[in-house]
Amino acid sequence: MNASTSAQHLVRPEDLPRGISAVRLLPDSQLDALWGSIIVKSEIKEQLLSQGILNFSLRTKVSRDKLPMHGVILLVGPPGTGKTTLARGLASQLAHFMPRAKPRLVEVDPHALTSSAMGKTQRSVSELFSQTIAELASSGPTIVLLDEVETLAADRSRMSLEANPVDIHRATDAVLVQLDALAERNPNILFIATSNFPQAIDDAFTSRCDLVVEVPPPAQEAVAQILEHCIDSLSEHFPALAKIAKSKDLAKVAQACEGLDGRALRKMVVNAMAQSREVAADPNKLTIDHLLSAAASAKAVRMQKGGAK
Ligand SMILES: Nc1ncnc2c1ncn2[C@@H]1O[C@H](COP(=O)(O)OP(=O)(O)OP(=O)(O)O)[C@@H](O)[C@H]1O
Ligand SMILES: [Mg+2]
Repeated sequence: MNASTSAQHLVRPEDLPRGISAVRLLPDSQLDALWGSIIVKSEIKEQLLSQGILNFSLRTKVSRDKLPMHGVILLVGPPGTGKTTLARGLASQLAHFMPRAKPRLVEVDPHALTSSAMGKTQRSVSELFSQTIAELASSGPTIVLLDEVETLAADRSRMSLEANPVDIHRATDAVLVQLDALAERNPNILFIATSNFPQAIDDAFTSRCDLVVEVPPPAQEAVAQILEHCIDSLSEHFPALAKIAKSKDLAKVAQACEGLDGRALRKMVVNAMAQSREVAADPNKLTIDHLLSAAASAKAVRMQKGGAK
C-alpha cells in the first residue's frame, strides 16, 4: 500500500480497472464526516437514506415484476450544492445498516470511458458494467457512484450526429442495456448518480431512476450554518476562530452571502483569510470585516455571472 492509498482504499490507483477511479471499503469515517458536513434540509438526507435502505432490503426479496426497481438514485442541482459529497456520505451511512456485509463504494470516472478512441466508448461502457461492476458486486453489496452522469447517459435526442459522434449515442444505449441487465441479476447494487446538468441526461436513464432528488443551493439559514460549521471546524487548528464562529455578527456575513452555493461559501472563507499576508500567515487574526469584504467580492462575481440575486 503506498502513501496515497488509505486503509479504506481496497485497490491501489495503478491497479484500478479502466473507468474506475476508486474502490473503498465501507463504512468509512471520513465519508461519514462528509455526510455530516453537508447542511441540507433533514428531509433530503432522510429520503436518501430510506431509499438506500429499501434498495438493499426490498430488491433481494421482491421480484421485479412486482416492483420494477433499477437500484438508481439521481441527485440533481446546481454546481457546488454538495451532490457528490452527499453521494459518498450516503454510501458510508448505508453501510452502517449492513454491518456484516462489508459493502464497497466503487467510483466511476466517466471521462476515462468517453475519452477513449472513437468507436470504443460503447465497448468500454459495456465492459465496465457487465464485467467490472458485476464482478465487484459478486462479493457483496456494492454502491456505485456515477458522478456527472450526463457524460455517460447523454440525451440522445439532443445530439446532432455531426457534432456528437455516434459513439456517444451508442454509449447511452449501452448504459441503458447494462442497467437493465444488472437490475435483473444484481439486487445488491445501488447506483448513486449526480448531475448539475439534468437536461442533458437521456430521458430513458431518468425514467430508470427509482428516486430523483433535487439538491438546492442553501437557503439563508443554511448559509449561516455552513459558515459557522466551516469556521468552527478550522478553530481546531486556529483556536481564535472559535469566537468568530460564535459571533452574532456572523449573521451579517451570512446575509451578505445569500445566494452563494456551499462550495462558494467555503471558498469565501479561504478568500477572507487571504485578504492580507498577516491573516494568511496566522488565520487566528481573521475578523468579521475580512469575511464581509470577501463575501461582497464573492457575491459580486456571482452577480456578474447572473447567478445569485
Ligand atoms: N449544503 C452544503 N453544506 C455544506 N457544505 C457544502 C454544501 N454544499 C456544498 N458544500 C461544500 O462545497 C464543496 C463542493 O461540494 P460537492 O463537490 O459535493 O458539490 P457538487 O454539488 O457535487 O458540485 P458539482 O455539481 O460542481 O459537481 C464541498 O467542499 C462541500 O462540502
Ligand atoms: Mg459533483
